[in-house]
Amino acid sequence: MFSTAFLDLPPLASVQGSVQLPGSKSISNRVLLLAALSQGTTEVRDLLASDDTRVMLDALRQLGCTVDEAGGGTVRITGLGSSTPPSPTQLFMGNAGTAMRPLTAALALLGGEYELSGVPRMHERPIGDLVDALRQLGCRIDYLGNQGFPPLRIAHAGGLPPLQLQAPIRVRGDVSSQFLTALLMALPLVARQQDVVIEVVGELISKPYIHITLELLARFGIAVRHEQWQRFTIPAGSRYQSPGLIHVEADASSASYFIAAGAIAAGASGQKGIKILGVGLDSIQGDIRFVEAAQAMGARVTGGPNWLEVARDTWPLKAIDLDCNHIPDAAMTLAVMALYARGTTVLRNIASWRVKETDRIAAMTCELRKLGATVEEGADYLRVTPPAQSGDWRAASIHTYDDHRVAMCFSLAAFNPAGLPVRIEDPKCVAKTFPDYFEALFQVAQTDADRIPVICIDGPTASGKGTVAAAVARALGYHFLDSGALYRITALAATRAGLEISPDNEPRIAELARQLPVRFAGDRIWLGEEDVTDAIRTEQAGMNASRVSALPAVRGALVALQHGFRRLPGLVADGRDMGTVIFPQAPLKVFLTASAACRAERRYKQLISKGISANIADLRADLEARDARDANRSASPLKPAQDALVLDNSEHTIDEAVMQVIDWWQARQPFGA
Ligand code: DC
Repeated sequence: MFSTAFLDLPPLASVQGSVQLPGSKSISNRVLLLAALSQGTTEVRDLLASDDTRVMLDALRQLGCTVDEAGGGTVRITGLGSSTPPSPTQLFMGNAGTAMRPLTAALALLGGEYELSGVPRMHERPIGDLVDALRQLGCRIDYLGNQGFPPLRIAHAGGLPPLQLQAPIRVRGDVSSQFLTALLMALPLVARQQDVVIEVVGELISKPYIHITLELLARFGIAVRHEQWQRFTIPAGSRYQSPGLIHVEADASSASYFIAAGAIAAGASGQKGIKILGVGLDSIQGDIRFVEAAQAMGARVTGGPNWLEVARDTWPLKAIDLDCNHIPDAAMTLAVMALYARGTTVLRNIASWRVKETDRIAAMTCELRKLGATVEEGADYLRVTPPAQSGDWRAASIHTYDDHRVAMCFSLAAFNPAGLPVRIEDPKCVAKTFPDYFEALFQVAQTDADRIPVICIDGPTASGKGTVAAAVARALGYHFLDSGALYRITALAATRAGLEISPDNEPRIAELARQLPVRFAGDRIWLGEEDVTDAIRTEQAGMNASRVSALPAVRGALVALQHGFRRLPGLVADGRDMGTVIFPQAPLKVFLTASAACRAERRYKQLISKGISANIADLRADLEARDARDANRSASPLKPAQDALVLDNSEHTIDEAVMQVIDWWQARQPFGA
């Protein structure tokens, strides 16, 4: 996940390959509860790992289910069958509405005493309509705080009271469909002798979510009948039957970004667009109908039971005029696709956007305009006309309003024909449904290497460049190349192979360097099977690296490896010749230096803090010797690139140096303040 303040997306060109989407939140928690109410073991695959599912899994354990988290999204749940959970039990539901509501209904119909509470925000989320429906049945439920809100107590210490199952149970359908879902999932517990009927009062909203509930109940052996979505009948004799194995579909709204990318981006040469895994054309989620809208705009979409394949077909896309009531979330993606259409796209019947994570009509209007589009916003519609020509596109910093969908759909603006970057503010807001969204995008998107930004930070030994470069990389969400480590590892590999570091052995050491089995994993560095992080950091290893790096053939052998670090979304590279030789076109080059006295003192403190004894005068002599060799060698001598900005940090803290580099970087970006 990117937890940086902003994430700059370089202009993107094409997509190829496949992407596995995370499981749907709505489906994940429904499946867990149904598995818990069944007899026997259900293996759930591709479960979403999120706060909401964590809460549900913990609650199910407390209630006596065996929960075996096998890893890789697979969880095996052994259900309660006919046993009753331990009671009294106190359950903490965090802020997981998808756990709170259905568990309240299920526990109220299982017998026993339970208290359900959550974080303060949970105690502001209504549950009164559900409690009213359960009380009609004869359940005894007390509010422990405010009337109509959690926390609450289900007071069936003496067992389940007699229930009134003859009359239909009435529940409001116009506030949240989650109350109806909760009843539908729990009432089969008591539909033994007679049919149980639920009547919806008021117009039922969010029918697609009730559709998901009914489909999943069917997978667990419960065939609910309904008349016009107003009257639902759970037939007498219903019993939860585990399907044994069940896959959680990927989130169909999340699929919309990759469907759009496939429709917008040219496929890489010889490729057929992008494959999306985890959700297919037979999906039970309403947002899968986004596929039809994308096709109407010109996408070529094919698919099977658990996959979709999307490629660009009509280009530019066709503008559409669409009632989007059936795909409210995914329709935001259409608003960004409209930037690539000929003509004006109108999205209608989207009033619900105004009451989502943010006022999405206002947000989309404001951000689309920043990119150069002409946008008309209505109470319940949006008209989007793209920038007239490629020169009318603007580089924009997209505000994301703590709304995951705003962040994800605007990433698609990076495919703009003007080759402009796009800045996404607060990229971590995608965590709500898709924590690794940007990683997934970078995995399937390509662009010319020279469009991927590189910041070079070169300088003499102990100037602090490694620390500064790593911090700059963290702040920008960029990859990090410690090129010195490659010379240190080469020297280590040579020593291990019994090769003396001398010009005589140059071809053999170069051969070693070319095939270096090096792997950077977090802050550890591996050479083959060995963690060499500490072994390459000794003074001796630094000296050997300096000697090995003076061999031109070795330097040549490491070039391709270093270029390979230039990956989306960007790179910060530190070394001696990053700006002069390896990335001569880099848009920012910094030469970080400090006086020899100052660097010797820093190195001294560093060693002492690690418990290694040292002598300042010796250290200074050593690093002056290394400087001299690095600066005087014939191959890529250490010197600032002509266009480098020199930063002497003798008097600066690391933080100040980092801030200076980021300021220089920001000043070169096209985004306004
Ligand atoms: O940055 P460092 O101290 O880890 O580098 C070790 C040696 O490797 C250094 O003395 C010079 C050499 N080096 C180089 O020649 N070119 C680079 N880009 C990085 C390091």
